[in-house]
Amino acid sequence: MATTQTLSHVYPIDGRLNARGRLEIGGCDVLELADRFGTPAYVVSEDDLRARARAFIAAFEAAGQDDFRVVFASKAFGATAVMRVFAQEGLDCDVASAGELHLALRAGFSPASLVFHGNARDDGEFQLALDAGVGLIAVDGFDDIDRLERLVKGRSERQALLLRVTPGVRGDTHDKISTGQADSKFGVSIGDAPAAIERLRASRGLELRGLHMHIGSNLFSVGPFRAAIAALAALGDFAVYDVGGGLGAAYTAQQEPPAIEDFVGEIVSAARELLGSGKRLMIEPGRALVANAGVTLYRVISVKHNVSTWVAVDGGMSDNLRPMLYGAGYEADVADRFGGTTRVQLAGKHCESGDVIIKDVLLDDPRVGDVIVVPVTGAYGYSMANNYNAVPRPPVIFCRDGEARVVVRRETLDDLHARDL
Ligand SMILES: Cc1ncc(COP(=O)(O)O)c(C=O)c1O
Repeated sequence: MATTQTLSHVYPIDGRLNARGRLEIGGCDVLELADRFGTPAYVVSEDDLRARARAFIAAFEAAGQDDFRVVFASKAFGATAVMRVFAQEGLDCDVASAGELHLALRAGFSPASLVFHGNARDDGEFQLALDAGVGLIAVDGFDDIDRLERLVKGRSERQALLLRVTPGVRGDTHDKISTGQADSKFGVSIGDAPAAIERLRASRGLELRGLHMHIGSNLFSVGPFRAAIAALAALGDFAVYDVGGGLGAAYTAQQEPPAIEDFVGEIVSAARELLGSGKRLMIEPGRALVANAGVTLYRVISVKHNVSTWVAVDGGMSDNLRPMLYGAGYEADVADRFGGTTRVQLAGKHCESGDVIIKDVLLDDPRVGDVIVVPVTGAYGYSMANNYNAVPRPPVIFCRDGEARVVVRRETLDDLHARDL
């Protein structure tokens, strides 16, 4: 038996091991959750979501920045219940498709609080955004300008915009989530930005409020943000600057991303120094708001010894694509026996050899029927979930003060053919 351990900072703020050595999230015993709601299941601490939203706001206030907006990048966890929490906390919302726009409105965000992004939005998506009255549209290139010019003709109000610029700065992250480098599919290049700015400034129906950048995701260093802000500063003076998202999250106990307060403090001071004071500063965190709030519960289905010890669970790449997409690393524990010395590969149930949630993890003698918890699955798990092998997607369960609430039900087998004609 492993000895009881203190939880590492990767778990939600109200995660703890109870007297029986069982994990609790928001006061709910996860073994009871697994029995009651089944597995796999996404379990989310509602207080953790709220605490991180408040931490962003408090950080701007502490830095003396009066004019700011914290914009939840809804792609990170696009469930309306999660969006609703952030709407209640006074955040704005980044949407990157007609679907995300629809969900954000449904979750209670006002149209004015939405920022609409994307590198390939068609007329239909823009029309929806214009009709809904979204606060800001981030223009991603000259084709967007052509489209919007055409679509806003005859409208009485000018549509407020940001211009997304790719600053030519490479953050230290995985290639697949790096966006700020010169050769990016997002935004206009530094070289083309002056022409885009000129066109937008001359537009009758469009009103350029400021510049946007998003250099990448899961960044642990503020340096690239400073370099990118400096690149924007060279493009002229604007009222609004949106520095995008990207603050990293700790996926394993060894990882220490900057604290929200320090990160925001450094962004504010870089912006003041490089852009001048009196600007509206916007930031678009996704991962940093939701990653650590969520854990996934799985049930062990089989344990076998083929060179490695293979522990196979009832989910995998359909509920968490990140290990397959980016080789993303995670920790795991048996939910009532934390720690351990049995070295295993934690495998998913899908028909791909690559469907391995964790290639090398120490567990406490995992057995069939055990509940396994994988922390830090709040970001880009639910959002990228899929039905590979026709596996129904898991429910989302909010936990708070000992109460569990299913906010997204588990998909049923009938859901799997609900769209068939
Ligand atoms: C425009 C934009 N803003 C914000 C984000 C959120 O990034 P993160 O989850 O790393 O904070 C993304 C992520 O892809 C993005 O594309």
